[in-house]
Amino acid sequence: MVAWTDAERSTISAVWEKVNIDEIGPDVLARVLIVYPWTERYFGTFGDIFTATAVLNNAKVAAHGKVVLRAVDKGVKNMNNIKGTYADLSRLHYEKLKVDPDNFKLLADCLTIAVACKLKSALSPQVQATWQKFLSAVVEAMNSQYS
Ligand code: HEM
Repeated sequence: MVAWTDAERSTISAVWEKVNIDEIGPDVLARVLIVYPWTERYFGTFGDIFTATAVLNNAKVAAHGKVVLRAVDKGVKNMNNIKGTYADLSRLHYEKLKVDPDNFKLLADCLTIAVACKLKSALSPQVQATWQKFLSAVVEAMNSQYS
């Protein structure tokens, strides 16, 4: 279990407060699909996601990006039990969706970049370090049911 100081908790909350899920969610998933195009293979039911323009205009991508960020929101609100919070989702990605867990880190990096675009200089190196510590815990929790 990750231990969090009060300063870390307030830094993570302050970053997350500035994130509009409806705006950043679509951006994050679009970045994953455009920057790492092999991730398309998991989203066969999403229709045309074969070019950057198609990804950016795909309503299913936008909607699913919000779903993913709502799951991140749960992590922010349950920092004392991140592993438990993601146990079912980890199992789903492993057993049913068969997502290669390396991709969790790639999604986390795209989220950090989307957050950086939004926060600009407010995402100082120290704030980034704390934010990434949080996302690493989420990624670890998403890995936890892979055996
Ligand atoms: C921090 C990382 C991630 C989180 C928190 C997350 C969260 C979620 C959530 C909440 C769902 C919906 C589950 C449900 O309907 O019960 C989902 C579905 C899904 N996720 Fe993830 N996910 C993550 C990473 C990824 C990655 C990296 C991929 C693939 C590259 C992926 C592929 C999928 C697919 C294919 C679905 C099903 C989509 C559909 O058919 O509607 N996920 N994810």
